[in-house]
Amino acid sequence: MTDIPKRQPSFALGRLGDLWIVLGTDRPLYAGAIAVQALAATFSYVVPLVPQAVIDGVFSAPGTRMGAMSAWIIEKLGGAEAVRADLWKPGVVIAVAAVAAGLLNVLRGWMTARAAQRSVRRLRERVHARLVRLPVPFFDANESGDLLQRATSDVDTVQNVLANQIAEMGRAILLLLIAIPLMFAIDWRMAIASTVLAIPVVAFAGLYFRTVSDRFRTKDEAEGRLTAKAQENIAGIRVVRAFGRQSFERAEFRERNAAHRDADIRLFDGLSQFWALSDVTCLAQILVVLMVGLTLVSGGSLGAGEFFFFLFATNMYIWPIRHLGRMLADLGKAAVAIERLHAIMDPAAEDAGDEVRSEARHEARGEARGEAAGGASRSASDTGPAHAALPAGGIRFEGVRFAYPRGNTVLDGVDLTVGAGETVAIMGPSGCGKSTLAALLLRFHEPTSGRITIGGTDIRSLDRSLLRSRIASVLQPPFLYSRSIRENVAIVRPELPVAAIAEAADSAAIHDSVLRFQRGWETVIGERGITLSGGQRQRLAIARALVRDADILLLDDALSAVDGDTERRILNAMRARRGRVPTIVIAHRLSTLAEADRIVVMEHGRVIDHGTHAELIARDGLYKRLWAIQAELEDEERVAVASDGEAPR
Ligand SMILES: Nc1ncnc2c1ncn2[C@@H]1O[C@H](COP(=O)(O)OP(=O)(O)OP(=O)(O)O)[C@@H](O)[C@H]1O
Ligand SMILES: [Mg+2]
Repeated sequence: MTDIPKRQPSFALGRLGDLWIVLGTDRPLYAGAIAVQALAATFSYVVPLVPQAVIDGVFSAPGTRMGAMSAWIIEKLGGAEAVRADLWKPGVVIAVAAVAAGLLNVLRGWMTARAAQRSVRRLRERVHARLVRLPVPFFDANESGDLLQRATSDVDTVQNVLANQIAEMGRAILLLLIAIPLMFAIDWRMAIASTVLAIPVVAFAGLYFRTVSDRFRTKDEAEGRLTAKAQENIAGIRVVRAFGRQSFERAEFRERNAAHRDADIRLFDGLSQFWALSDVTCLAQILVVLMVGLTLVSGGSLGAGEFFFFLFATNMYIWPIRHLGRMLADLGKAAVAIERLHAIMDPAAEDAGDEVRSEARHEARGEARGEAAGGASRSASDTGPAHAALPAGGIRFEGVRFAYPRGNTVLDGVDLTVGAGETVAIMGPSGCGKSTLAALLLRFHEPTSGRITIGGTDIRSLDRSLLRSRIASVLQPPFLYSRSIRENVAIVRPELPVAAIAEAADSAAIHDSVLRFQRGWETVIGERGITLSGGQRQRLAIARALVRDADILLLDDALSAVDGDTERRILNAMRARRGRVPTIVIAHRLSTLAEADRIVVMEHGRVIDHGTHAELIARDGLYKRLWAIQAELEDEERVAVASDGEAPR
């Protein structure tokens, strides 16, 4: 995560405060689970208490010491004689207590699992909602594999802690909290002997928790980098193969994998040291109870039953306490996971205010369109709320400068006007900043200086969603969803009748290709369906832009992959629409450029020339030079290029 400032929590528990927020409305369910847990812990202690009383009160030689607790229990069971006569009675009490504790534990598990699932579902939604609202530069600065890792694996870590560890921790603490007063009530010397090593175990666990959470963080980051690499290779498998990069990619993967392994080993070393040490301490604790207990029993100041109770009870609480280290380690892991989620949750969304306002607008417009269903949507949107359209008029770039974060200046003072209804073509060498202009118009980035206006209004004062929804764009490269062709075209206007989709598809010269697919409009494209050719993808993206019928049309290199014939068909169809809205066509081909009212020539982030095709060709400049070269090439192409392969794969 390059751009995001790293948070180094002074003490990782600070981040755990966020767990409280994650619990949200499920807090009562958690509280209920903890109450159930307390009840289960109480029942657990009935199990050793009853045998203690029976041993000391019924079976010991007369005159042996019997504690007050044992005496009370024997009395409740009906006196020593009655218990001796009906020994099954204490047996039943033990059985009932054990079953009750077990059932309550099951109930606790049921409650925490539900609460955890629900709060994690909310967390997932919050993370996703944030991801789709983060500004574009955020995605430039982060690897998508790493983001994916955060949004899935880190959320799972939080879920694991919520579902298991919090309740387990409650159990350990409650067992101890109930055990301590009980032990002191029975025998203070034994109580001290039984808990003396618990303090170092807890302290050690706390200390360990701090060390291990650093190791968890390192491991998680290594895992993120590993996922990112695999994701990149899968997405770019064709390039990897075509350029014979397999061994290079494998070496890089191996390197990241080794880093992950080292981080994992360090983590497990830490874990096993802790387990070994805490095991020894726990066993030592039991040994202390054994030795002190035996001494006291043989001295006659401790009942054999009481000794049994302390041995049993120590065994019962010390192991969960030992587990506290593990739980704390998992909490450390969750703290790291939450910290990693902060990288997604903390950066400001593109514009929180924008979205809310524009959603209301979209709804309003949706209604307006609904009334005019099937009719001309343009007039429908015109009858909608006045602010549901962009200010009427042309587009102006005024002294626009821009540099990508940590990059050189890409646009170096661009002045450019596209009149209302005018079609302007932008051309220029690769990398001169054409797509960047498009990105600025869509407010994916903000100019460093200068401004962009539409109908005289600075686009910074327009909300982003409105702006984007009113600009029909084909971006470079076109992105298609893994859905049906119909859904891809009508993505922003699902209510559109197939006839309107077909019309746009016809204008984009993709209609015939679609009909040739077995499932026609319902053909699913992408990972779950067929693969489209580059040209087909572009044409589909153009059809999608055309059905939007927006206030501005923006085509970035949208015709680069279609053959000359198809290009002419598309340009013819677009000519019919010309003059309606300001249109920016970024292109390299002269045949496309020649269709424009005006051509703007860019170089090194500046507009170096502009005029009609005839004007430019009359001047001795970049345009004329490129035209001379391309005219030759296009002649050759016309001869060489047949139609592109239409058959679905
Ligand atoms: N997201 C980004 N982060 C950093 N630099 C970028 C980013 N996108 C583009 N650039 C850089 O900005 C410059 C202009 O890129 P741009 O995509 O605008 O070129 P272009 O004129 O559209 O080129 P082409 O004709 O090849 O599409 C290039 O040098 C490129 O390296
Ligand atoms: Mg470009």
